[in-house]
Amino acid sequence: MVKRAPWQLAAAGFLISIFQSILVHNEAVNKCLNDDCGKNASCDNDYGNGSCSCEPLFWRETNKNKTFNNGSENDCISCRFYMKVSENDACIAGYRLCQDDRKCCVINSCSSKPCGRHAICHLDCGDYFCQCRSGFQLPNGKSRFKNMNENNCKDIDECKQNVSICGPRGSCINTEGDYHCKCKQGYGKSFKDDRKLCRDINECNENPCDKTASCNNYEGSYSCSCPSGYFQYSDAVQEDKTKIKCK
Ligand SMILES: *[C@@H]1O[C@H](CO)[C@@H](O)[C@H](O)[C@H]1NC(C)=O
Ligand SMILES: *[C@@H]1O[C@H](CO)[C@@H](O)[C@H](O)[C@H]1NC(C)=O
Ligand SMILES: *[C@@H]1O[C@H](CO)[C@@H](O)[C@H](O)[C@H]1NC(C)=O
Ligand SMILES: *[C@@H]1O[C@H](CO)[C@@H](O)[C@H](O)[C@H]1NC(C)=O
Ligand SMILES: *[C@@H]1O[C@H](CO)[C@@H](O)[C@H](O)[C@H]1NC(C)=O
Repeated sequence: MVKRAPWQLAAAGFLISIFQSILVHNEAVNKCLNDDCGKNASCDNDYGNGSCSCEPLFWRETNKNKTFNNGSENDCISCRFYMKVSENDACIAGYRLCQDDRKCCVINSCSSKPCGRHAICHLDCGDYFCQCRSGFQLPNGKSRFKNMNENNCKDIDECKQNVSICGPRGSCINTEGDYHCKCKQGYGKSFKDDRKLCRDINECNENPCDKTASCNNYEGSYSCSCPSGYFQYSDAVQEDKTKIKCK
């Protein structure tokens, strides 16, 4: 057995504790990766400790405004309405009496369109918040705001944010709230999402070659050539490939 001096043991212990704190730290940072907040809740690292919170129009049954740590603490219930404890109770802010006067229903505070342009209004348990719609963001990096004078939703320039967003076969054109990819010659847009990546066009589907020649598709273009056993009798070159004739 190798003897270790006390300072070596202390140093080893110190390194282990650093290592452990890195592990713990990573766990905290990556809390949202295994999004285990449970139903009607979502994970948000911004909240720090309790990274779980009920989704809009849900609140915590026991502790309406607070965040929580994981799915086992999830007690999110719908907050569209709540039953009054006694008939004489007034509804809390953001709610109004509804139906049989025993119930308070959430007021649609979004109906007055408080958020302004390029933004979406979300109801939030008697309250509301605004978010820039997709393709737009607040320059200060915040995700939520409360009223029109805080609305500074600016177009995201997707072309600048990711210079390879259109891939090697397209050039990016930024538009308000969106972007398009303009394809190089010989490339076209995919069927599923025609603003996105450019794919090779199979020109041979259009039978561009002479009917005596065969068509060979390749990336970005195609060629016409004579099948084996045939020879070319026209003097066309590939630049003029549709005129290649074989016999
Ligand atoms: C809330 O959670 C339940 C159970 O997972 C789900 O069926 C329901 O659609 C959720 N409601 C909303 C508004 O997301
Ligand atoms: C995180 O927890 C610490 C200690 O329990 C507490 O002092 C702090 O306020 C909490 N932070 C948040 C954002 O809840
Ligand atoms: C949540 O907190 C806000 C202020 O922090 C308060 O105005 C509101 O009434 C609270 N909502 C509930 C349901 O307790
Ligand atoms: C959920 O969080 C509580 C409080 O932090 C903790 O005691 C419990 O072990 C956690 N449960 C799981 C499954 O992570
Ligand atoms: C940039 O866009 C390309 C193509 O859409 C994508 O594959 C890549 O992951 C993006 N890069 C970043 C950093 O988002």
